[in-house]
Amino acid sequence: MQVDPGLEGVIAAETVLSEVDGQAGRLTIRGHLLEELAGHCSFEAVLQILLDGLLELPGSEAALQADLARARAQVFALLPPDRDSCRRLPPIEVLRAWIAQLPDGDDYPTALQLLAAPAVFTAAILRIRAGDEPVAPEPCLRHAADFLRMLRNAPASDYEAAALDSYLVTVADHGLNASTFTARVVASTRAGLTSAVIAALSALKGPLHGGAPGPVLDMLDAIGQPERARLWIEAALQRNERLMGFGHRIYRVRDPRADALRAALRALATSCAHSDNTVSSGQSKSRALSERLALAESVEREALRILHRDKPQRALDTNVEFYTALLLEALGVPREAFTCMFAVGRVGGWIAHAREQLRCGRLIRPQSRYIGPAPAPAAA
Ligand code: COA
Repeated sequence: MQVDPGLEGVIAAETVLSEVDGQAGRLTIRGHLLEELAGHCSFEAVLQILLDGLLELPGSEAALQADLARARAQVFALLPPDRDSCRRLPPIEVLRAWIAQLPDGDDYPTALQLLAAPAVFTAAILRIRAGDEPVAPEPCLRHAADFLRMLRNAPASDYEAAALDSYLVTVADHGLNASTFTARVVASTRAGLTSAVIAALSALKGPLHGGAPGPVLDMLDAIGQPERARLWIEAALQRNERLMGFGHRIYRVRDPRADALRAALRALATSCAHSDNTVSSGQSKSRALSERLALAESVEREALRILHRDKPQRALDTNVEFYTALLLEALGVPREAFTCMFAVGRVGGWIAHAREQLRCGRLIRPQSRYIGPAPAPAAA
C-alpha cells in the first residue's frame, strides 16, 4: 500500500456538513453555497443549519440565540481567577487552558458552553492583557455583536457586528481540515465534546492552519508601500519562506472564503464612510481602512504574479487568512488573538463534526508502515 504522509486524497469520513470543491473554488455548507450564507445570515443561523439533527436544538434561530446568550453568561461566571497566565502566555494558550476546565460531555448544554466559550474567554483575555476588567455578556445581543461589546466595553455599530457575523459564518466549517479531523478522531474515542474541542484548538494553533493571519499583517507592515511589494516578496521566496495567506491543500483556484471576506471588508469600509453619527472619526477610520485595503490588494496581485511565475507547477492562490487578517484588524481585534477568533467561528464546525462522528460510532484508527530496524534475533 502506498503511504501518503499528508493523507492527500484519503477519504476518512462521510459528512453531510460541508463540501470543499477545490477545482471549482466552491464551499457548500449543508446544501447552501457560502455566498448564500456569508453576509446574509447570522452566526446563530449557521449553527442552526450545521447542528440540525445532531443535537437537541430548540426549534428556532431566536431560541438558539437566547440559549447561546445564556451559555455566554454561564461561561463568564467560570472565568478563572488566575490573571497572571493571561499576561504571560499567548492568548491561544490561555484560551486552551480555560476551555479545558469546562466539564466534558456530549449533550446540548455542553455544546452550548463550548460554542460560547471562545468568544467570552477571548474578549476577557484581551481585556485583562490590556489591564482592563472583563465585561459580562449581554443577553439581548447576537453572538458577534456581544463579542465586540465584551471586547470594547461599548456597543459595536450594526455594520461592525454584521462584518464579524460574516467572518464567523465564513469560517464556521470547512470539510476535513486538520483541526476538524482532530476533533473527529478524539470524538471517535468517545472522550467528550470538550476534549474534542481542546484537541482541535491545539491543531488550529499552528501557522500552517489557523496561525497565518497575524503574520499576514506582519508582512503588510514590513512591505509598507505597494511599490515595495515585489522586492519584499521575491526576497522572502529566495529565503524559502512561505507567503502567509496564500496556498491551500485543497483549493487549486481562489479560496471562495477570501472573496466573502473581501466583500465584508469593502462593505465595512463603505458603511464606515457613510456612518452618520461619527462623521469625523468615521471618515478617518474609513480612509485608513481604504488605504490598508488598497495596499493589501496590490500585495495580493504582486504575490500571485510572482508565485505563478516561480511555481507554475503548483496552482497557488489567495486563501481565507489573507482577508481575515484585514477584517479582524479593522474591527480592532489585536493580531495576537486572530487564531482565537478563528476558534470563535470554527467551534461550530468542530462540534457538528464531533457529533456526526459519534453517530457513526466507529473508532478512527489508521495504520502505519513500520520502517524501523528489525528486532535482533533472539539469542539461542
Ligand atoms: N508561499 C510560497 N510557496 C508556497 C506557499 C506559500 N504560501 N504555499 C505552498 N507553497 C509551495 C511550497 O513551497 C511547495 O513548493 P515546492 O514544491 O517548490 O517545495 C508547493 O507550493 C507545494 O506546497 P505544499 O507544502 O505541498 O502545499 P500544501 O498543500 O501542503 O500546503 C499550506 C498548504 C496552506 C500549508 C501552504 O500553502 C502554506 O504553507 N501556506 C501559507 C500558510 C497559510 O496561509 N495557511 C493558511 C491556510 S488556510
